[in-house]
Amino acid sequence: MPLRLSVIGTGYLGATHAACMAELGFEVVGVDVDQAKVATLNEGRVPFFEPGLDEVLERNLAAGRLRFTASVEDAATDADVHFICVGTPQAAGAQRADMSQVLGSIEALAPHLRADALVVGKSTVPVGTAAGLAERLKGVAAPGVEVAWNPEFLREGFAVADTLHPDRLVVGVRSQRAEDLLREVYAPLLAQGTPFLVTDYATAELVKVAANSFLATKISFINAMAEVCEAAGADVTELAEAIGYDPRIGSRFLSAGLGFGGGCLPKDIRAFMARAGELGAEEALTFLREVDQINLRRRAHTVDLARKALDGSFAGRAVTVLGAAFKPNSDDVRDSPALDVAVAIHNAGARVVVHDPKGLANAARVYPNLDYQPDVMTAFTGTDLVIHATEWAEYRDLDPHAVAEVARGRHVIDARNTLDPATWRNAGWTYRALGRPNA
Ligand code: UDX
Repeated sequence: MPLRLSVIGTGYLGATHAACMAELGFEVVGVDVDQAKVATLNEGRVPFFEPGLDEVLERNLAAGRLRFTASVEDAATDADVHFICVGTPQAAGAQRADMSQVLGSIEALAPHLRADALVVGKSTVPVGTAAGLAERLKGVAAPGVEVAWNPEFLREGFAVADTLHPDRLVVGVRSQRAEDLLREVYAPLLAQGTPFLVTDYATAELVKVAANSFLATKISFINAMAEVCEAAGADVTELAEAIGYDPRIGSRFLSAGLGFGGGCLPKDIRAFMARAGELGAEEALTFLREVDQINLRRRAHTVDLARKALDGSFAGRAVTVLGAAFKPNSDDVRDSPALDVAVAIHNAGARVVVHDPKGLANAARVYPNLDYQPDVMTAFTGTDLVIHATEWAEYRDLDPHAVAEVARGRHVIDARNTLDPATWRNAGWTYRALGRPNA
């Protein structure tokens, strides 16, 4: 009999994991406390924007391998392996992670687990969590119940491909049985040659935050170079290209601009620093404070550039922000650099119009006071200045002549360095960018 799986939490990670595990041929039940989300998923609709996920969802619902429920008990009694995919956001007013969803889901699951169930954590957690959960389960769950940690590295926008064709699989386990169960779950991926790394709990937990810290550091490194380029009159895009040819450096994740945002990198580096502090290893990660600062400075610098372009004041001016999502191909606005800039400029007195192909509904829920415009030409109408804040492909393809006709001022700030400076300048725009000469 093939293993039966449950997936607790149906956000970007959980919904994708549930659908993709069903795609691998398993019988999967997804669980969420949000009844509306459960109903939407059962109807074959994805409650967020993730390219390609709707087809995988529909196909597996239709095949009868996948269903969603709000009842943990229903899921627990039915499945052999349970994946914990709930959120671990930044705690309110603190740097550390809010672990209430992880703890809550384990507590709900524990009394209903079958005697030989394996609970597999995928959420990004402070090191030490898996060991703590294993301890908690003693006494409340059947004695054969075990915990494993299997961090998830998927990127939003590429979630399906990253889940079905991961760079590697990492599992933190305490027994051969747990390793064997996970090898069985991931057998189709192992057959593709995916590296499978077996570690202890702590290492598996750390792999995830170490990877995200490295990525954040790489972005802040190139953004620090952008600051120096601005001071020296150099061009960071040329610099990045030139250093990126060195394979030890590599050109990926070396795009200077408005920096990183989203539900992972910013909160993960903060939670990692907080956890290192608790462990007495604070000094090891003080550089991440700098990584965070450099990243946030890019947002402030973009606001300054915009203010300067408008002769020092936003009062009575109209500003268009292209992008609300934290990155293209996502509707996720968590810790979005684009929205942060829009809000700062709004608070400084400008009338701000925000455009985004997918993220407007989520943005309006968080910041109802901004003006959201789904039509890009209308967003340009009467504007004094445009900020290119999220690099959706459709912004690169804009015709600077056409939008110039409806705009009032012709200032564009390319905060993602993906517009073509010559095309915009030739169409009469004053083009400014981050980390490039702004003559
Ligand atoms: C990230 C990790 O990549 C993923 O492995 C992990 O599981 C979750 O966190 P995600 O948050 O989906 O994934 O976004 P990612 O594609 O990594 O981008 C993060 C941010 O960095 C975005 O805001 C993006 O715009 C920014 N970025 C990325 C840059 O500013 N410059 C770059 O060169 C690359």
